[in-house]
Amino acid sequence: MAFSDSFLEELCARNDIVSVVSQYVSLTRRGSSHVGLCPFHNEKTASFHVSSDRQFFHCFGCGAGGDVITFLMRIENLDFPDAVYRLAERAGMTVPEDNEEIRSQKKKKDRLLELSKEAARFFHSVLLSEDGKTGLEYLLGRGLSPSTIKRFGLGFAPNAWDKLLSEMTRLGYTKQELLDAGLALSNKTGRLYDRFRNRVMFPIIDIRGAVIGFGGRVMDDSTPKYLNSPETTVFNKRKNLFALNLAKKSEGDRIILCEGYMDVIALHQAGFDSAVASLGTALTSDQARLIARYKSEVVIAYDADNAGINAANRAIDLLKEAGVAIKILRIPQAKDPDEFIKKFGREKFARLLDASEADTEYRLLQAQSGLDLTQDEGRVAYLKRAVKLLAEVSGNIEREIYIARTAKQVGIPADALGLEVSRVRKALIAKKKKEQERQEMFPLSQKGSAARELRYENPKSAVAEEKLLSLLMACPELCKTASTRLTPEMFSVPVFGRVFARMQELSKENHEFSLTTLTRDCSAEETAQLAGVFAKFVGGDAAALSDYIGIIEQEHWKRKSADSDEALLEAMRRFQNKKANGDGSA
Ligand code: UTP
Ligand code: MN
Repeated sequence: MAFSDSFLEELCARNDIVSVVSQYVSLTRRGSSHVGLCPFHNEKTASFHVSSDRQFFHCFGCGAGGDVITFLMRIENLDFPDAVYRLAERAGMTVPEDNEEIRSQKKKKDRLLELSKEAARFFHSVLLSEDGKTGLEYLLGRGLSPSTIKRFGLGFAPNAWDKLLSEMTRLGYTKQELLDAGLALSNKTGRLYDRFRNRVMFPIIDIRGAVIGFGGRVMDDSTPKYLNSPETTVFNKRKNLFALNLAKKSEGDRIILCEGYMDVIALHQAGFDSAVASLGTALTSDQARLIARYKSEVVIAYDADNAGINAANRAIDLLKEAGVAIKILRIPQAKDPDEFIKKFGREKFARLLDASEADTEYRLLQAQSGLDLTQDEGRVAYLKRAVKLLAEVSGNIEREIYIARTAKQVGIPADALGLEVSRVRKALIAKKKKEQERQEMFPLSQKGSAARELRYENPKSAVAEEKLLSLLMACPELCKTASTRLTPEMFSVPVFGRVFARMQELSKENHEFSLTTLTRDCSAEETAQLAGVFAKFVGGDAAALSDYIGIIEQEHWKRKSADSDEALLEAMRRFQNKKANGDGSA
């Protein structure tokens, strides 16, 4: 990463982390910390801390952490340079011109976005021309109005090999750019041709309104039905949603999550402008979190077939984690929302929406499938499944309601079922608590899935290293003292050693220590880990420093001598083998 230290320092100094985070999270002051509900996981008690002194955030719940740049990257789905540019813009700074690498990267991306926009314009104009007649007829035939076609910028890719290619080349885009944007493919001889041919085109637009990719549909039954843009530097299928740019502005606090582009468009046309869909893949956790940033309730309106049910089940889990309320729409007598609205009209669909069920109800219904509730056997099997489900419902009132309902349905006293559910629930809570304690045993509050793999090989040294680094962070002037006794190689945790080396470098150049300058060569996980370490800092002085150094030294020498013991043993073994061989041959 080629931004200079001093630039990044100034950038962070001019973008106070508390004010940046406050745009997304409501924070309350607690000492020198600001505390709020973590935007990166679902929680009811605040464990998300932002330090204004030291300009970083850390969540004691999920282990997320970092500086103001990392925060913006995560919350806005940006890469590092983009986050830097945004913060620079926010603070009215210009990014240094000498930054060739980053500048050219950014330029490339801007060009691809420009190209995608031009391509969308081209497809749209074709749709309205003679070459696009079949496409337009198709869309109108599916009940779309001209204004809907316009609002979604729908288009048509002509039935030819190089119409887009030649038009974009005429506008000055290179072959490489067309390949990079996923709009062209090259054949064996290296000749380019249009990826999308003879398809109606659905531009995919991100939350900021930029065209980032396309879906193209055939106009008959041939396959694949939809062809989507490949992943490119500007198109990430896992992190974007079709029509979220429109749905985020919709009134109300709800998103309607559909499976297909056509469902979304049909819903918007019927006035349900909070509909979105994922991009040709199952819903991802990134998408679930993206939704949660804008609205707090999601109605899942997937197709009424088995694939739709399975997809809904997976989506429920992800959306739960993201912390939104979930309802499930069941669509009778039609395969998807699009067909339902066509058959029965918008009023009926609105009623369907109102009648959509909370996910508990949905899950209970599913638990009955394949069972005969008129028979004792079936009822017992259903109760077993239901108890498990009910024990997981966290809202007390909601749980009571469903317990009563299920008991009545199966014909047993509600009290009896209630007792059984509380028993299972207690066990569940105990298990979760144990799990949490087990995780807290480790020196770091690492509960993020990636970090969970992290274990210290030498916990004694690692804890001393954590404390030492935190102390140096707070009192950089102690770095010189530490350097008289410690070298980066003596750290048992490699990333801590690297950070110590950075501290030495920075202190030589009289730079300040900040998470930003210290972690410039660290991965996102490592940065979060370090934020966690610094967040636990409680204080210390030169005497404490000396203790920490002592432990690190001692553990280092232990490891060293273990190594040299090992080397000694190995040498002895070799010697003995040689002797044995020598003896044998003599
Ligand atoms: P559907 O077939 O349900 O989509 O697939 P739809 O939008 O309702 O299609 P029609 O036009 O009414 O028949 C759901 C989604 O799955 C992806 C697309 O994103 C589609 O919108 N998909 C489907 C593909 O990416 N490729 C395919 O071949 C089929
Ligand atoms: Mn459909």
